[in-house]
Amino acid sequence: MSPVDTASNSELAGAPTPFITTELPGPLARSAIARDALVTSPSMGRVYPLVPARAAGCVIEDVDGNRFLDMNAGIAVTSTGHCHPEVVHAIHEQSSKLLHYCASDWYLPVYAESCERLVSSTPSGMGAAQVFLGNSGTEAVEGAIKLARYATKRHNVIAFFGAFHGRTLGSLSLTASKSKYRGGFGPMAAGTYHAPYGDAAFIEEVLFEHLCDPLDVAAIIAEPIQGEGGYSVPPPDFWPALRRICDEHGILLIADEVQSGIGRTGKMWAIEHEVGISPDIIVAGKGIASGMPLSAVIAREALMVWGPGKHGSTFGGNPVSCAAAIATLDVVERELLENATMIGARLLRGLDELASLNSRIKEVRGRGLMIGIEFADHDTAARIEQDCFRRGLLVLTCGKSAVRLAPPLVISADQADTALRILADSIDAVA
Ligand SMILES: Cc1ncc(COP(=O)(O)O)c(C=O)c1O
Repeated sequence: MSPVDTASNSELAGAPTPFITTELPGPLARSAIARDALVTSPSMGRVYPLVPARAAGCVIEDVDGNRFLDMNAGIAVTSTGHCHPEVVHAIHEQSSKLLHYCASDWYLPVYAESCERLVSSTPSGMGAAQVFLGNSGTEAVEGAIKLARYATKRHNVIAFFGAFHGRTLGSLSLTASKSKYRGGFGPMAAGTYHAPYGDAAFIEEVLFEHLCDPLDVAAIIAEPIQGEGGYSVPPPDFWPALRRICDEHGILLIADEVQSGIGRTGKMWAIEHEVGISPDIIVAGKGIASGMPLSAVIAREALMVWGPGKHGSTFGGNPVSCAAAIATLDVVERELLENATMIGARLLRGLDELASLNSRIKEVRGRGLMIGIEFADHDTAARIEQDCFRRGLLVLTCGKSAVRLAPPLVISADQADTALRILADSIDAVA
């Protein structure tokens, strides 16, 4: 028997949404939150009191039966929509056969198949590539930095202000979106430098001139579109300049596609919007397995010079996550790149119209379904985020004063229009 209750999945995915029947949070949500507060780490800064019980497509139903339209995708993770039947089916099939056998020590065909699929999806300029699978974005960033240091025999890494690369100590040293992420944790990894995002000249004119010999630099790491930093699209000359600098000095170029990859911008990798530019390493995570934990370091084959034991992971490339990734790539490649492009353009058009009527919106930017709406100040963005929740629309702030839209890539035109309507009402109400 199929584990996927397709009827109830599609019923929920197509149910009229938003549909709010209780005060928020409702009684069951309040008791779940009180229970949670007793035993969970206070380091998790919950955004609003959402307690999901089940979800399908772009619809989340909370424990009290309220339905929310999800423009977050669990922070750019549920790429194929919540509980896509093909993904759930693949998870069930795999989990009934083999749950675990450490891929760092033995052979898993489903691991190799995931890597084949990722390799064949990379920009052709990368040439032959090989893949290491991990569990989370931060872990993949750590792997990429280790690989870059090992392959170049250099130790410095350049990242950008506004960047988010994770919260483990190596990736945290690269993260420079908010100082609170670093505060209290002592010295960051030595040899980490930062430049303003979008300003490649700073690397040559300031860093190389005053602080850091280019011959000591292993890698430059950047997000093709900054995520946590504000959904910022860099100027068109940024990536070509990074590529040139890297080529001139033997530095590796790492594209952190953890948030922007797997079809979110309408192309499999956001770096493909930078025509003719190929990175040496791509780091992926989040949407890669529709919600199952998986991440990837995809590197040019010539760089994969580290030998057995140099890097590994007990859980990384877990067979169930790999099966979910293969199904995710099937669905994204088959139908979601086009949908992300189409609905993304529709949202951008609607938001531009809204901005022309509403001076509280300072800028609308993005590609595909990675869209940022900039407001005058943080307080306005934060109040809109909270107000949208009360109206049944899930959005999230980013950067200093922006609201981001990163819905599942299955979002329909009607759902996009509903989101635009609620955003317009919310902006008016907050004004
Ligand atoms: C661009 C980017 N890199 C890395 C990470 C870290 O990923 P994870 O939270 O899975 O460790 C994130 C998470 O938001 C991210 O957006």
